[in-house]
Amino acid sequence: MWSRMRLDIGWRDLAAGLAYCGACPPQRPVWSELPHPAAPLLSVRTGWDLLLQSWRLPAGSEVLMSAFTIPDMAEIVRANQLTPVPVDLKPGSYSPCTESLRRAVSPRSRVLLAAELFGERYPLDELADFAERHNLALVADLAQAYTGQLTLPAGAAAALYSFGPIKTATALGGAVIVMRDAELAEQVIEREQRYPWARRSWFAARVCKHAALKAASTKPAYGAVVRWLQRGGRDMDQSLSAAVKNFSADELLRAVRRRAPAPLLRLLDRKLRQDYRQRTNRRAAAAEEVVAAAGSRIWRRAESDHSFWLVPVVTLDPEELVKRLRGEGFDAVQIRSLDVVPPPHSRDDVCVDNARAALFGTVFVPSYPDMPTSERRRLADCLSGVQVLPVEETIASSAVAR
Ligand SMILES: Cc1ncc(COP(=O)(O)O)c(C=O)c1O
Repeated sequence: MWSRMRLDIGWRDLAAGLAYCGACPPQRPVWSELPHPAAPLLSVRTGWDLLLQSWRLPAGSEVLMSAFTIPDMAEIVRANQLTPVPVDLKPGSYSPCTESLRRAVSPRSRVLLAAELFGERYPLDELADFAERHNLALVADLAQAYTGQLTLPAGAAAALYSFGPIKTATALGGAVIVMRDAELAEQVIEREQRYPWARRSWFAARVCKHAALKAASTKPAYGAVVRWLQRGGRDMDQSLSAAVKNFSADELLRAVRRRAPAPLLRLLDRKLRQDYRQRTNRRAAAAEEVVAAAGSRIWRRAESDHSFWLVPVVTLDPEELVKRLRGEGFDAVQIRSLDVVPPPHSRDDVCVDNARAALFGTVFVPSYPDMPTSERRRLADCLSGVQVLPVEETIASSAVAR
């Protein structure tokens, strides 16, 4: 069975990560070559929470955000006494729709969070213009979009990159925040330095767990793991997603308001110095055949760059597709970690139907450079007959998902 994805970390990095847990000084890496102030953090959620605290927005201010993202990003907004207002997706894409944005904005809106999903980098110009006209701070959530460079998109006040367990160039945790304004950067860093350190032993256990997961994700071992989970009557999707969770959703703020331990920072620095541009180019090239076969079942903006961190296929019958692909030895999976941000009660004018359709119809299919071309062709063949979810039907189909 081809596993749903591979951990993007080598055995040498894992060994180095474990060695750093023994002795390494609590030092923050310095990246003086970057054009904007940047800081390593425990997670993207830590950075998002730090930004919201540092801006000191009046309680009840609205934060406009991509309607399709991980639920914790909206939870953190609420925990800061602010109101998340979802911005629906552009039809046939995972990016926010400007028409929806126009409907969502109000005199209480202060921030706009744009999530770039699955490795797609769409231009933020339109959103940046909108943010400027409405005096909103634009934040680019690039948790899924690292391709070897820590850039700050034009017009964005901050960008957030994640290096959690399943991300590109993972350090098994950690994130980087890049900020435009030096004063904001100072406040964010100063606040973070008052947090308690996450424990080294927590990170050491993580390295060991992910070494085991890496060993289990090779083709022959993965099939055995899947059969073992099924024999024990355990839900495979739940077990595997729980295994790679960054941290539990319980007591979210306590979990995110911590400093990254020194060995994590050291491993993160090591990973950021590796050349990921070439690797992500190879990954995108490997996905091309599968993507071409999936045709309009891949939602993406024509003008975007895509590195295919994941290959998301949108279909009218996601359960059938997962069943069919698993029968062929490809461990496809429906979305579990992302969800639709619900509109607040006071904003019944805000609609999120395209995001609901994305949640309903998206299936991730395994594709990575070390999958042989013949296997990718077989996967492409399986996809070419899949039922398309027509974009104009998204509203009707999403009713199924509610
Ligand atoms: C779109 C998006 N935003 C934010 C996050 C949170 O990242 P972290 O785990 O570093 O907090 C994730 C994590 O998967 C994500 O996918």
